[in-house]
Amino acid sequence: MEPDDGTVPLDDTFAEVVEFHGRMYQKYALTNETYFSPVDERETARLEQMHRIFNQVFDNRLIFPPVASPRRVLDLGCGGGDWASAVAEELPRASVLGIDASPHMLPEDPPDNLELQVDDLNARFTFQSDRYDIAHSQMVAGGIHATRWESYIRDIFRVLKPDGWCQMVEIYFNAQSDNGRLTRDHALSKWSSNYLQGVQPYKNPRAPLQIANWMRNAGFTEVESKLLVLPMPSRPSNWTSNGGHHPKFAAYDRMPIEEFEILVEDASAEANDPSFKIRVHRKETEKPSEVMSEVADAVPWVAQPLLEMTTT
Ligand SMILES: C[S@@+](CC[C@H](N)C(=O)[O-])C[C@H]1O[C@@H](n2cnc3c(N)ncnc32)[C@H](O)[C@@H]1O
Repeated sequence: MEPDDGTVPLDDTFAEVVEFHGRMYQKYALTNETYFSPVDERETARLEQMHRIFNQVFDNRLIFPPVASPRRVLDLGCGGGDWASAVAEELPRASVLGIDASPHMLPEDPPDNLELQVDDLNARFTFQSDRYDIAHSQMVAGGIHATRWESYIRDIFRVLKPDGWCQMVEIYFNAQSDNGRLTRDHALSKWSSNYLQGVQPYKNPRAPLQIANWMRNAGFTEVESKLLVLPMPSRPSNWTSNGGHHPKFAAYDRMPIEEFEILVEDASAEANDPSFKIRVHRKETEKPSEVMSEVADAVPWVAQPLLEMTTT
């Protein structure tokens, strides 16, 4: 493959997996401290659910920038290909390219206009400059090295056409209470700060708050950023001991597992406590409660998806 065609050829090491506590992780991602979440069927199903939730939260809009008929769309860290497949179906005349370091969750039967490639976004892009109308990067903060963010965004800028757009969505995992009742001593706060600290040697958990500035620094103009708040789950079914993350990335690297299990139990109980989440008022534009309960089911924290849209 010519470098300008896209990514480097697939290395076999991308395919290897390791098992831990019944979940499958990509060996390459662990070895290179790239990404610490599972890449198994359960994770694929979670990503599908997350896609449905974002659809609901975003009023079924897949693309926010004002671009009528994009010819080339790039989805960076496409996971199970949910967004990329939906865009390919909605825009049959567009060519969509989905990139992910893990081949394990990619769709087996993608739409004809969706191409999938395996590559590590932490390496400098080999894509041709000025090629894409839209670049989409959603929920990849767990896989972008802390030191890579600014060059990642500069790489995106380079591969976009001069009038191209970039759409980024990330969550700042910071447990907060609507009514201020949640203090630092609560298990939920400890769990959340453990998570934030745990990712720090490798990742930047506050990256979502800095993306807009990095975009401006990279040369993007018309940068628009929106902060949305999502509720805590009422039934935190997917709160495993380490939130699904490999232990290398989990809080119990720094505390005995038994202690961490108790912290998770207590945090789950607090998440179920309605007194932390009094919703003070309801606007007409707010989602119906059944949507919010699905949001709450899938997102194990009070979460703030950050939607960044920008043009070059
Ligand atoms: C939480 S999932 C999000 C998937 C998709 N963007 C979505 O919103 O459903 C993160 C994805 O990014 C991929 N990823 C993480 N770090 C990566 C990297 N450095 N290079 C390429 N893909 C990466 C993971 O393999 C995973 O599929």
